[in-house]
Amino acid sequence: MESPKKLYIKTYGCQMNVYDSERMAEALGARGYAQTDTPEGADMILLNTCHIREKAAEKVYSELGRLKLLKATQPDLKIGVAGCVAQAEGEEIMRRQPAVDLVVGPQSYHRLPQMEARTRTGARALDTDFPEEDKFAHLDARPKAPRGPTAFLTVQEGCDKFCAFCVVPYTRGAEVSRPVARVLDEARDLVDRGVREITLLGQNVNAYHGAGEACDWSLARLIRALAEIDGLARIRFTTSHPNDMDDDLIAAHGDCAKLMPYLHLPVQSGSDRILKRMNRAHTADSYIRLIERIRAARPDILLSGDFIVGFPEETEADFQATLDLISEVGYGSAYSFKYSTRPGTPAAERDQVPEDEKADRLKRLQALIGRQQRARQDAMVGKTVGVLFEKPGREAGQMVGKSDHLHAVHVSDPTVTPGQLRTVRIVGSGSNSLSGECVAP
Ligand code: SAH
Ligand code: SF4
Ligand code: F3S
Repeated sequence: MESPKKLYIKTYGCQMNVYDSERMAEALGARGYAQTDTPEGADMILLNTCHIREKAAEKVYSELGRLKLLKATQPDLKIGVAGCVAQAEGEEIMRRQPAVDLVVGPQSYHRLPQMEARTRTGARALDTDFPEEDKFAHLDARPKAPRGPTAFLTVQEGCDKFCAFCVVPYTRGAEVSRPVARVLDEARDLVDRGVREITLLGQNVNAYHGAGEACDWSLARLIRALAEIDGLARIRFTTSHPNDMDDDLIAAHGDCAKLMPYLHLPVQSGSDRILKRMNRAHTADSYIRLIERIRAARPDILLSGDFIVGFPEETEADFQATLDLISEVGYGSAYSFKYSTRPGTPAAERDQVPEDEKADRLKRLQALIGRQQRARQDAMVGKTVGVLFEKPGREAGQMVGKSDHLHAVHVSDPTVTPGQLRTVRIVGSGSNSLSGECVAP
C-alpha cells in the first residue's frame, strides 16, 4: 500500500476552528492524508485562520511568507488557507502570495477533497461560497479512531447579531443550527470512541433551535437529550449571547447534573452608552439581573466573560462602568482585548481611542480580573469536586484534568488514568492550577 501523504494543519482562533480542523483532517484522510505534527516534510500545509482582530489576520501573511521559503525546498508541497481570513480576504491572499495553492472558506470544507485534487494538477483553487447545503452533512467519512476524554461538537454556526465591532457575521455567515438527529448521532459516536465530556460549540450557541422537522428545539432541550447518553459524563457549551439565555437553559443549570457549573457569557462593556453603540441590545443592568437568575438556579456557577476596551468613543467614565460591572459580577476568568479596527464593520468608521489609552485600560481591567480569578480559584481549596483526568502532568507521577468548574487540577496518584472522572479534594491553589487528592470512590 502507498504510504499516506502528510498533512500539517495549524489552527488559529476559536474552538470552532479547532473542530473544523479535525473535520478537514478527516475529509483529507479520504484523499490519503494522515496528520503530522511538523510542517517540515508535509505534503500539504493548511492554515486554519482567524480574522477577529487585526493581529490575528496579519499573522497569516507572515506565516505564509515563511511557508513560501519551505516550498522552495519542497516543490510538491501544497499550501492551503482555510478559516475566516480565507473567507474575508480570499482573493487578496491569492494575489499577495503566489505560493498559496488553495483557499477555502469555513462553509466550503466539504469541497476540500475535490479542491485538493485540482491542486495536484498544478491549478490553484478558491472557494469562499456560502452554499445552501450543510457542510457537515458531507464531512461524515469519520474513521472510528479512539478519542481522548474531551471533544468539541459544533451545533450552530454563524451569527445574525451584527455587533458593530465584529467580523463573524461576515466570515461565518448567517446563523444556522444543525439538525438534532445529526448532533445526537455524532455525540453517541464520540462517546463510543471514548469521549466523556462534550463541549457544544456555536458563535451563538444558545440561539440553537434545531433544523428541519425539529426546528423548535432549544439548546436546553438538546442538552437534556444528550444527558440521556450513557457514558457521557459532562456537557458544556460556548459561546452564549446574554439575550439568548432563555428560562429553560437557566433551569437546566440547576436540574441537569451533567451540565457543568461554568458559563461563558460575554458582556463586552459595562457602559450602556457603549453597549448601545456596539449594537449589543442589552444593558449592563439587564446583564446583572440575568446573572442573578442564573446564580439562583446554580449558586456555585463560575462565570467568564469577554471584554473590549477602547471601543470607539469610549471615555474614562464608560471604562469605569465596565470595571464597576466586573466588580459586581465577580468573574472566575475572562478574555479581554483592545478594540481592533475591522474593515467593513460599522465601528471602523468612528472616532478611535488612542492606542496608549487602550493599552492602559486593558492593563487595569486585566489586573482586576486577575484578582477575581485568583480569589475564585483560591476559594476552591478545601472543596470536593469532580475532575476528569486528561493527561500526565509536568512532574513525574502527576495527572492533570479539569474540574467541574473548568479549573486545571493536578494530583499525584498512581491509580489515576486518562479518561477517569474522580472525586478530588482540593488542597492547594497555585498560579494557574489547583492541586488535589483523590477521595476514595
Ligand atoms: N460570539 C461570541 C464571541 C465572538 S468573538 C460573542 O458574541 O460573544 C470573541 C470575542 O472577540 C468577542 O466576544 C469580543 O470580545 C472579541 N472581539 C470581537 N471583535 C473584536 C474587535 N474588533 N476588537 C477586539 N475584540 C473583538
Ligand atoms: Fe460577533 Fe458574537 Fe456579536 Fe455575533 S454576537 S456579532 S459573533 S460578538
Ligand atoms: Fe476567529 Fe473566525 Fe473564530 S474570526 S474567533 S476563527 S469565528
